[in-house]
Amino acid sequence: MSSPLQIWHPFSNSVLDPPPLRVTRAEGAVVYTADGRQIIDAISSWWVNLHGHANPRIAAAIAKQGQKLEQVILAGFTHDAAEELVTRLRKWVPRELTHLFFSDDGSTAVEVGLKLAVQHFQNLSRPEKHEIVALEHGYHGDTAGAMSVSDESPFTQPFQSMRYPVHRVHSAYCYRCPVGLKRESCHIECVQQLEQLLEERAEKIAAVIVEPLLQGAGGMIVHPAEFLEKIRALCTKHDIFLITDEVLTGFGRTGKMFACDLANISPDIMCVSKGITGGFLTMGVTLSTDRVQAAFHSENRLHSFYHGHSYTGNALACAAANANLQIFDDEPVFDRIRGIAKIHAERLRQLRDFHQVGDTRQLGGLGALELRVDDPGYLSSLRPKLYNFFLERSVLLRPLGNVVYVLPPYIISPDQLHRVYDVITEAVQTIL
Ligand SMILES: Cc1ncc(COP(=O)(O)O)c(C=O)c1O
Repeated sequence: MSSPLQIWHPFSNSVLDPPPLRVTRAEGAVVYTADGRQIIDAISSWWVNLHGHANPRIAAAIAKQGQKLEQVILAGFTHDAAEELVTRLRKWVPRELTHLFFSDDGSTAVEVGLKLAVQHFQNLSRPEKHEIVALEHGYHGDTAGAMSVSDESPFTQPFQSMRYPVHRVHSAYCYRCPVGLKRESCHIECVQQLEQLLEERAEKIAAVIVEPLLQGAGGMIVHPAEFLEKIRALCTKHDIFLITDEVLTGFGRTGKMFACDLANISPDIMCVSKGITGGFLTMGVTLSTDRVQAAFHSENRLHSFYHGHSYTGNALACAAANANLQIFDDEPVFDRIRGIAKIHAERLRQLRDFHQVGDTRQLGGLGALELRVDDPGYLSSLRPKLYNFFLERSVLLRPLGNVVYVLPPYIISPDQLHRVYDVITEAVQTIL
C-alpha cells in the first residue's frame, strides 16, 4: 500500500499548527465547516473576497462563460471576456496606464512589472539602468523576483541565495519611525534616504517598487499620502519608473478603487490581483504607460516581452472580473466600505485606551492594532495564541505576529463586524 497523498498547506507548520478545518461551503462573510461551525471570515480569505463568498452574480458569470469558452491561448488570440475587461478597467485605472499584461496572481503580476521596467531600458540600449529600489517592511510575493524586492523576513530567510540585490530604503512606519522622530514633528523625513539614493544612482536605477499607502504582510503599516506623493515626484525627477503594487490595496480596500487615487498619483507600472475577480479565481494584471510599452514596440524580435503563463487571460477569470466590476457599477460598494470604516474607527478608538495596544491604524476597509509585546514581529509568541483564541470563538483572523488586523468582505454586516471586534477586545483583555 502506498502512503496517502496529503495536501501540503501554505504558510503552515505541520507540527505546530492545528490540523486544517474542512470547509463545506461559504456564503457572504461566513465559512461553514464540516463539524458544523460558522466562522466569520474577517480577512476576506487572504484579502481576495470583496462581495461575499459564493456571490451569485459572479458564480453565474463564470458558469455562463464556461459553456462558451473556458480558455484559449492568448499569444496570437484574444477573446470577448478579456476585451470586455480592458474596456471596463479603463474607467477605473489612471488614464496614463494604457497597456495591460495578464498573469496568474499577485506574485507574477509583480514579476511582470519588474521585468517590464528592466527590459524597457535594455531595449533602449541602457542595460546599466537595471537596479531596483524597494521599501523596508515591503512584501510583494513568494516567487524569486517578488521575494527579492520583499524585505527580509521569516518568509525569505532560507532563500537569501535566490534573492537578487535590491536597494532598501525606509518606509514611513510612523509608529516605529525609522528616523526616530515623534509623529507630531514629522515632515516625511524618512523619504530623504530615497532622495539621496536617487541623487547618487539614478543612472543605474530602473524602478522603485512600493505597496502604495498600505504595506500589508509587513504589518499593516499605513503611510501618509505625502510619502507616496514624494516618491512619485522623486521618480519623475530622476527618470525612474514607479511601480505600485496594488495587489492588496486595489478594488476598494483603501476606500478608493486604487490607493493611487487617494494620493492622486499615477504610477508608470501598476500590479493588481487578489480582488480583481471578486475573490473567485486567480488572475494577475500589470498595467503600464505608453512610454513603458514604447520600448517594446519595435521591429527587433528581441525587443518582445518573452513572458507568459499558460493560463494568461483565462476566460473564466475574465468573466469573474467583469462580473466583479459590474457589481461596482450597480451596487453601493463604496457606501459599504464607508460603513465598515466607521465601525473600524469607533472600535479602534475604544481599543486605544488599553495599555496593551501600542498603535491603531486604519485605511478604508482595513483596521489594525499593534500590540505591545516583548517579541514583536511575525514570529511573536503571541500570534498562535491569538489565532487559536479567535478561531475558538468562530472568527477567522490571522494576526501578523503582534499585529491584529480586520479586512472583511464588503458585505459583512455591522453585527458581524462588531462581533469580530468584541472577540479582539476580549483577547486584548485576557491574553496579554
Ligand atoms: C502587496 C502584495 N503583493 C503581492 C502579493 C502576492 O500575491 P499572491 O499571493 O497572489 O502571489 C501579495 C500577497 O499577499 C501582496 O499583499
